[in-house]
Amino acid sequence: MSRYRAGRHSLLAMRRLLLPIACAVLVLGACSEPIPDDAPGAEIYRISCAPCHGAELQGRSGPRLGGEEAPSIDLSRDYFVDTITRGRGRMPAFGNRLSEAQIDRVVDFVLERQGRAP
Ligand code: HEC
Repeated sequence: MSRYRAGRHSLLAMRRLLLPIACAVLVLGACSEPIPDDAPGAEIYRISCAPCHGAELQGRSGPRLGGEEAPSIDLSRDYFVDTITRGRGRMPAFGNRLSEAQIDRVVDFVLERQGRAP
């Protein structure tokens, strides 16, 4: 009987330990969601940019990027690529996380959403 209790107790203890570990793994996994090499621009945007620029490009902690009323509507493609590659102000650099081709694709996506031809 006492053995049974001890076994049950350690099972509970293990659950208490495993649950936070499982949660931590889930949270870390969400933070570093891998971006496939050939991911389309919209997918790259959703993972890398939407947390700051908004799922609809409406702006959050970062400026609005979508629509003709976006403050960046007159900025050049080179400016976009440079901003994403090297970062700007409070925006982090993505040059070490995204390939040049991925950056090109996410810029195409944003320019299209501004109603501009990429
Ligand atoms: C951690 C938040 C954050 C993330 C993630 C982020 N940005 Fe930004 N972004 C900013 C901030 C803040 C600025 C304004 C920088 C400044 O001028 O000081 C900015 C500026 C920009 C600009 C210039 C816009 C303007 O009006 O001057 C572009 C273009 C841009 N971001 C695109 C992107 C793209 C594309 C991604 C994804 C690859 C991305 N950003 C990811 C926060 C972020």
